Amino acid sequence: MSTVYKESTEITVTLSPSGRQFVALPNNSLLESGLGAGIALPYSCSDGRCGDCRAKVISGNVRKTRFHDFTLSESEKIAGVCLLCSNEADSNLTIEVSEANAVDDIPQQQLRGKLCHVEQLADMVIARFKITRGKALRFLPGQYLQLTLPGTAPWLLPIANCPCEPRFLEFHIPTHHTRECHLINNISRSDRVILDGPQGVFTHRIPAKTAENKLFIAEGQHFAAVKPLIEHVISQDNEQPCTMLWIATDQVGHYRHNLCRSWADAFDWFYYMPLANTDVLLPKISSMDLLSTDIYISASSTRREQIAEQLVANGANREYIVIDSTECCS
Ligand code: FES
Repeated sequence: MSTVYKESTEITVTLSPSGRQFVALPNNSLLESGLGAGIALPYSCSDGRCGDCRAKVISGNVRKTRFHDFTLSESEKIAGVCLLCSNEADSNLTIEVSEANAVDDIPQQQLRGKLCHVEQLADMVIARFKITRGKALRFLPGQYLQLTLPGTAPWLLPIANCPCEPRFLEFHIPTHHTRECHLINNISRSDRVILDGPQGVFTHRIPAKTAENKLFIAEGQHFAAVKPLIEHVISQDNEQPCTMLWIATDQVGHYRHNLCRSWADAFDWFYYMPLANTDVLLPKISSMDLLSTDIYISASSTRREQIAEQLVANGANREYIVIDSTECCS
């Protein structure tokens, strides 16, 4: 009897020199698949105009999926260079590309965008902006952006979505910021906002130092800075145990409680604990094994160091704690 082997249809892309890998999703460009897998690939426009996503195919085949305005030189074509935003994988691939490993690898950008969606939750306004055609923001999860609305001073806010959607940017504005919420709620869909950044160093530590577990602690509205880090962990799909503690404040509660619950329901390695206040934090962390845990804290300036000290007193390694020290509205 002959053995029937199941043919694998999954196409794997390996990056050189990092060795990172991702699965090429059907009908997605290499750029879309890579960003969706949490890999910080280079790009500026995401639609074939700038040439910043150039990568060299070392082995395997790509298929062009769209016409692109950017013209590769003859020598680049001969060397196997392609645009990640305009090609998909046709076989397992190895490509040479320059990835961002730290915030210094990300260029400063100034873009324009329009408000495309506003949602009012209990104590928060969720606003989504769409960047004007031909541009996309390159950033790392956890970074901030300076937002200038028509007639207002610049305003620094965490980008509350992961970089896998580089043309759509989400911001969370507490309703107790009455003036800013009024502006957002009354902005015309034709008004252009200016987006400068990214800023801030609150992002994942480099993989070489990664510990066994991850712990995210967010206080109130600072969930907006932690959310993309968790989305990044989910996109990497490595099933590393991950816990999120969300501390409510007097002004901001667990306004995306259902989202956090859905993560906990979907992934058995993800634990979510909503906390009513900081008083109940200590009993929670005192029962955790913190020594080999990467810890990320985004909280008010009066709380974050205090939380870090409590964690260290309970066994956390200070070198493994990343504190969000970006000063923004609170
Ligand atoms: S050509 Fe601009 S990102 Fe691909």
